[in-house]
Amino acid sequence: MAVIENSKLSVIGAGAVGASVALSALVRGSAREVALYDIDRKKAEAEVLDLAHGTLFAGSSTIAGGDDLDVVTGSNMVIITAGAKQRPGQTRLDLAGANINIMKSLMPQLLDRAPDAVYMLVTNPCDVLTVAAQKITGLPSSRVFSSGTVLDSSRLRWLIAQRADVASSSVHAMIVGEHGDSEFPLWSHATIGPVPIRDWADAQSAVKPELGDFDAIADEVRTAAYQIIEGKGATNHAIGLSAARIAEAVLDDQRAVLPVSSVLDDYLGESGVALSVPSIVDSSGVADVLRIPFDDDEAAKFAASAKVIRDSLQTLGF
Ligand code: 2OP
Repeated sequence: MAVIENSKLSVIGAGAVGASVALSALVRGSAREVALYDIDRKKAEAEVLDLAHGTLFAGSSTIAGGDDLDVVTGSNMVIITAGAKQRPGQTRLDLAGANINIMKSLMPQLLDRAPDAVYMLVTNPCDVLTVAAQKITGLPSSRVFSSGTVLDSSRLRWLIAQRADVASSSVHAMIVGEHGDSEFPLWSHATIGPVPIRDWADAQSAVKPELGDFDAIADEVRTAAYQIIEGKGATNHAIGLSAARIAEAVLDDQRAVLPVSSVLDDYLGESGVALSVPSIVDSSGVADVLRIPFDDDEAAKFAASAKVIRDSLQTLGF
């Protein structure tokens, strides 16, 4: 595999999330060409124009798009954000029925136009929809995955960084499992710099504040989206940045280790469900998953996450 020259990234859905993905990709220079599609022509054209007017200040990427699905032709990567969004009081899983129907009609049409692309689902419930999309398209599980808990892991790292008074980039920690209410931190592998997070209290210098209760940190990550949805109706900026970051791993063939969600094959005994685990992401998509030991509590939580996804898939007839 290799870095993709003149890469093209398409974003499906020009709502709050899709527009943020496109803006983040332009500002970060994630792709040479960004295309934005929405079924609503006026909305797609308005977003494209608004973004285009800012490209002078956003590097050398270009933006185009509209309501014709042909805009995705030639894409190296397609990010799907289209679908019903969570309203206050709803969980991500509550969206499964509505959004699975969108996948059924959308995925074959996308595949017709971008047969070689890597597909990433952002639409929720992203783990459930990843399994469905993989079955609908018949693509290898490496080429259809979801942003999973990359965003949740960023939330976790930010929270720990705030408490420990260190840079987020020096916090090495991941949320794994469902991108949803059963997700959990992999504390057994979390470090601040080289210090195992469970040893932080002993290792810290006098000026460093304590982390506080680990369960409270995990709860805060798990409920973060609910809090934001309550306040502004949607989460969009952090997922936009997360998706652009993952796109770079694909388009620049980075082999970055990220907690994306793909259909698993005997991962801790789980097969046929998509869950986030540390994964190597390159231009082939999810090139591999890292099989690392989970402690007993983490393994039990992972099995519970798998059950949530399996139950939802069963209800949907997948
Ligand atoms: C988020 O976690 C709602 O899945 C969306 O921000």
